[in-house]
Amino acid sequence: MINAFLYAPQYRPNMSSMIRSAEFYGLKKIFIYDKNGLLSPPNNKTSKADMEHLARVWTAGAIHHIEVVKVEDPLVFLKNYQGRKIATLVDENARHLNDFQFMENDLILFGSEKEGLDKEAEEIMQHAVYLPSFGKTSCLNVAVTFGIVIHQALLSVNA
Ligand SMILES: C[S@@+](CC[C@H](N)C(=O)[O-])C[C@H]1O[C@@H](n2cnc3c(N)ncnc32)[C@H](O)[C@@H]1O
Repeated sequence: MINAFLYAPQYRPNMSSMIRSAEFYGLKKIFIYDKNGLLSPPNNKTSKADMEHLARVWTAGAIHHIEVVKVEDPLVFLKNYQGRKIATLVDENARHLNDFQFMENDLILFGSEKEGLDKEAEEIMQHAVYLPSFGKTSCLNVAVTFGIVIHQALLSVNA
């Protein structure tokens, strides 16, 4: 099974949507470097309500059926990961998504909304894939990217 890694997501709706899509596509777990504390809000009534809302509405309950693995040190985690590390990059020099052959045990990384991946993380990647734009907008929402890439990766692994 392929694996997905959310690198420092910044917005709960996007993160929730990616958890939901991961579970929908049958991933058993999802790795998250929670740099912005989206999974660990302060322990008060408002944040508890936020987290319940996240689980019930934004992930449509999917969060109860997938293991969310919090990664504390992303660089150590990436160096030790037993499988290829594939970045999704807003970079025309990366491989076109449809031309890339994914393999079982690949780890696919999705960057943060504003900054993408850190340089240090990018250096550890073995491959990078890209979705070219047909319009004037160069960049997709990360959660939209997630759905397209996971769909294509599963097709490619099972082809
Ligand atoms: C909203 S983008 C912007 C990130 C940052 N501004 C940059 O240029 O790298 C956030 C994440 O969505 C994914 N993404 C968005 N558009 C993409 C595209 N056209 N091809 C590949 N990945 C994309 C990547 O994972 C990226 O790190």
